[in-house]
Amino acid sequence: MESCKYLSSNMIVLVPQAEIDAAVQLLLKLKVDYKQMTGQDYKAGCPPSENLIVSNNGPAADDCDGEDLVDPWNVSASSTKGVDYDKLIVRFGSSKIDKELLERIEKVSGQRAHHFLRRGIFFSHRDMHQILDAYEKHKSFYLYTGRGPSSEAMHVGHLIPFIFTKWLQDVFDIPLVIQMTDDEKYLWKDLTLEECHRFTVENAKDIIACGFDVNKTFIFSDLDYMGASPQFYRNVVKVQKHVTFNQVKGIFGFTDSDCIGKISFPAIQAAPSFSSSFPQIFGGKKDVPCLIPCAIDQDPYFRMTRDVAPRIGLLKPALLHSTFFPALQGAQTKMSASDPNSSIFLTDTPKQIKNKVNKHAFSGGKDTVEEHRKYGGNTEVDVSFLYLTFFLEDDEKLEKIKEDYTSGALLTGELKKILIETLQPMIAQHQERRKQVTDEMVQQFMTPRPLNFKF
Ligand code: TRP
Repeated sequence: MESCKYLSSNMIVLVPQAEIDAAVQLLLKLKVDYKQMTGQDYKAGCPPSENLIVSNNGPAADDCDGEDLVDPWNVSASSTKGVDYDKLIVRFGSSKIDKELLERIEKVSGQRAHHFLRRGIFFSHRDMHQILDAYEKHKSFYLYTGRGPSSEAMHVGHLIPFIFTKWLQDVFDIPLVIQMTDDEKYLWKDLTLEECHRFTVENAKDIIACGFDVNKTFIFSDLDYMGASPQFYRNVVKVQKHVTFNQVKGIFGFTDSDCIGKISFPAIQAAPSFSSSFPQIFGGKKDVPCLIPCAIDQDPYFRMTRDVAPRIGLLKPALLHSTFFPALQGAQTKMSASDPNSSIFLTDTPKQIKNKVNKHAFSGGKDTVEEHRKYGGNTEVDVSFLYLTFFLEDDEKLEKIKEDYTSGALLTGELKKILIETLQPMIAQHQERRKQVTDEMVQQFMTPRPLNFKF
């Protein structure tokens, strides 16, 4: 007791001064940060009006309240049904792709919407109406997407943005740039620069195998293009000047012990959103609008980009966001290339596909055949069914499978068989197309050059 008393009285005498000093220091620092972020002096009770990036997705905020965690490096949902995407729209401040937008896309493109759009796999957007408004007035746009080449092995989930981007390229007949962030993977993973660059080339083959038109597509490695394109690097530097350490801490959850390469990397992912980064394609035009199809975990990069754009006199990119491709084990997390049993790889043999689906695909069916027949299965959590929503294009077939599974007429083993028979030919065809991709073709896609399109 005595020592306790001694300690506490000691603290009362000694600690406050230090605490006050620390608090004053912190307050002064916060005022400086406030000014850096908003351009205004801090005034109590007067919140900043606009342009401040609010951290609504930092890991700290997400960890504590049982919400889904979604950032460029982690995805984990609190429910077995997966991430609550409606909530994510509210948290990220994006807009839902509603019926009206779907109809507009169909009207402007003159094509039936892709099943990824019809089925809500691409579910959220920013400024898509503006892209369509301009397109209707014969002002074209370009597409930008990317891939972080962290290994040679790509899985089916990695194809989602590319399959969709290819569809957009075809229906709107527009140029496309694909950023391979080998620099990002070097900074984040335990890999050498040579490995990352090699993965860029290997992954580029899988991307090319999706069928992109070489006359309308430029694929680039950051490690190569950053040094080769003065205009690209200028845009990187402009972005770097207009984003503070505090802002990226808030958006990406960086800490003081992250290397400075990571801290400045978001500027490199931002730069391809601006047409002036590609003078060989756009002839120095600064005002060609950009549309970015990507999985929603990439949105933090583009929230930052959109915040900076008007301050450096450039256009904000528009976005189309997709949901995640679930892991075989369930929709609580996305497929991960580092866990072979969570993914179907593009290199898997028909036998491997069959075994993985049968062994690992989380089932929404009941434990026994009797129970399943009586109560039916749950398509909302059944991974085989979820995969079919991605890859079975026939709406009627899919609807029938849903009915039959829900009623109990279709058993889990039968559902898995349908999935296996959908994936096997799809992946075999991909492997066949990839074999046709030569080193010269990769070289062609990756050479900075004019693209063939009219504006
Ligand atoms: N950071 C992304 C990844 O790790 C790669 C990427 C770069 C990207 N630019 C992009 C993805 C634009 C989508 C859109 O995979």
